[in-house]
Amino acid sequence: MYALKIRPPARNHLSRRVANLNDFEAETERFLPPALFHYVAGASEDAAVYTRNLRAFRERAFFPRVLVDVSGRSTSTTLFGVEHPHPFGIAPMGFSRMIAPDGDIVLAQSAAEAGLPFILSGASLTAMEEVAAAAPSSWFQAYLPGEESRIDGLIDRVEAAGFRTLVLTADTAVHPLHERAARHGFVSPIRKTDLRLAWQGISRPSWVRQVLLRNRMAGFHFRFENMDASAGPPVLSSTLIRDIGRRDAFSWRHVKMVRKRWKGNLVIKGVMSAQDADLAEKAGIDGIIVSNHGGRQIDCAVSALASLEQITAKGLSLKVMYDGGIRRGSDVLKALKVGADFVFVGRPMLFAAAMAGRDGVAHAISLLSHEIGMNMALLGISGLEGLRDVEMVADNQEASA
Ligand SMILES: Cc1cc2nc3c(=O)[nH]c(=O)nc-3n(C[C@H](O)[C@H](O)[C@H](O)COP(=O)(O)O)c2cc1C
Repeated sequence: MYALKIRPPARNHLSRRVANLNDFEAETERFLPPALFHYVAGASEDAAVYTRNLRAFRERAFFPRVLVDVSGRSTSTTLFGVEHPHPFGIAPMGFSRMIAPDGDIVLAQSAAEAGLPFILSGASLTAMEEVAAAAPSSWFQAYLPGEESRIDGLIDRVEAAGFRTLVLTADTAVHPLHERAARHGFVSPIRKTDLRLAWQGISRPSWVRQVLLRNRMAGFHFRFENMDASAGPPVLSSTLIRDIGRRDAFSWRHVKMVRKRWKGNLVIKGVMSAQDADLAEKAGIDGIIVSNHGGRQIDCAVSALASLEQITAKGLSLKVMYDGGIRRGSDVLKALKVGADFVFVGRPMLFAAAMAGRDGVAHAISLLSHEIGMNMALLGISGLEGLRDVEMVADNQEASA
């Protein structure tokens, strides 16, 4: 049963300063070195896809119903046989441990506490075994190279760690240009000798203390822990690009290999075309995440919501999930109305973890779930299945409706 109360955040300043998911970004800018802040907030090239993702939600609107008893409403839904109290989870984000103190663990535990899925990134800096022990309901996302010899060992490690859902990210054949982040000093691989970064550290002492110097200067030794069967290269590695392997050779052939070996739920993230959704279904994949990586990869694609519309129109039997640009509870409802079974949220959750750790993420979850329940009440529905009967139009059709 959904309660209309926002859970009081542990720190008073949180509720005063953060009234919705967008507010976390400005708050975090004071804590993070500019290189990292712009790495998270930014997108590729001209941020055209990023902007399109956000705009797609603003351009759609509902016809609300009134005089319906909605006093017993619930936001719960079931995904892969697990009931979740709300229809959203936390998307995978690399480098989280460098952005928020103990970022991966904080996100994983906050999601688990709220009964929501968290996806650990394949570009994370915390060993997957540690995250699985701290939050056993987490999912794992892999970045696989198109090199068969490196795939089986990683898949077996993910299984041995206890994960039951594996997500393969498919939209990263190459690394695009993140000009905004680069302009502020974020270049990968990060160079120890970069004086700009040293200066940024001096200007953000709390981040230095809480991230870099935490646990006996652990920040200086962060590695990509989860790219292979064993720990991968250090973040400060000059051979990083070579060590990551041939992602540009990763193809359906490798996906089929993984399908044979992995017995749990297999999800492909980054699907944007109906043809690829079809291929996923034919390959025996359990679910897809319709996503353009939050505008961080290709910058000449349609919005993720426009793709979702095309894909759900095919009526496939696999689970169709969504991410990209979700900032309001009404955005969640719009994605579900377009046909998504579930959605994931990226940047705001990471900013929340950076700003206030587990209290911050709990506040973000509470704000979003409150907005979902509030909008359901105002739309005149008691359960998410009620969205079937609510009409939604694109803004440009409103005039003729
Ligand atoms: C800092 C950052 C790191 C990310 N790293 C990954 C990653 O390692 N793997 C992945 O599949 N997606 C990654 N993403 C993309 C997210 O999973 C997700 O698709 C995107 O953030 C959703 O858009 P939103 O931020 O507008 O909610 C990353 C996104 C951000 C902001």
